[in-house]
Amino acid sequence: HSFRINIAIDGPAGAGKSTVARKVASALRYIYIDTGAMYRAVTLKALESGISTDDDSRVGQLADELDIVLLPGSESQQVIVNGENVTSRLRTLDINRNVSYIARLSRVRKRMADLQRRMALEKGVVMDGRDIGTHVLPDAELKVFLTASPRERAERRFKELEADANLTLDELEKEIAERDRLDQEREIAPLRQAEDARLLDSTGKTVDEVTEEIVQWGLAAARTLLAEEK
Ligand code: CDP
Ligand code: CDP
Repeated sequence: HSFRINIAIDGPAGAGKSTVARKVASALRYIYIDTGAMYRAVTLKALESGISTDDDSRVGQLADELDIVLLPGSESQQVIVNGENVTSRLRTLDINRNVSYIARLSRVRKRMADLQRRMALEKGVVMDGRDIGTHVLPDAELKVFLTASPRERAERRFKELEADANLTLDELEKEIAERDRLDQEREIAPLRQAEDARLLDSTGKTVDEVTEEIVQWGLAAARTLLAEEK
């Protein structure tokens, strides 16, 4: 399986990472791993336990003890925490507003990165997040930094909302901007483009166009690797 590579996709909220990464993985028959869901799972459990979101030692201990299993599904990845499927509870407003505080904690980041590296050992993984190309998988054979304009990212997220969601487009744009700011300004493994990552601005592009571009880059990277081995 020397032609299997790892693909890291990082970028801000609403850039299309999850949507595109899943499609790229399915096109290449790779495994898709959504690392944001892992930070969301820790946040869910911390909020449930009433632990303060800036208590590194207590949230860190909680994260160390959580058994987090990601099951690849055709529609979406299922997240099992301590045997319970929490997938449908990870994308609430409450978690959106707290997750970037949890994601600043050093013990939490260390634990997540350890788990994520283990998942990528066999190669053939498409992993999306904030620090995959810079920190978790610095040796990934393909790194993509996926962006889109802040307005378009907010509009994409707005379209996903339930009709009864009490949130305006402007409010949503603010929430996303605040999360991006926290992710970019944190001390440990902040959101930024790796030096050797390809920048892909998806503003005005369709999901299929972006997917195709990354698949082609992936195939080219795998071919180069194969040629080098011969
Ligand atoms: O889907 P969306 O872009 O809204 O967020 P996500 O990918 O589910 O990630 C949620 C949050 O987890 C991010 O805003 C980051 O604070 C954190 N995260 C991180 O710090 N590092 C990662 N590799 C992935 C997510
Ligand atoms: O994971 P991330 O936060 O980067 O974005 P996402 O959860 O994949 O959400 C992106 C949303 O924008 C989805 O509803 C996609 O259908 C849509 N979209 C996209 O991902 N890429 C485009 N080029 C256009 C639209």
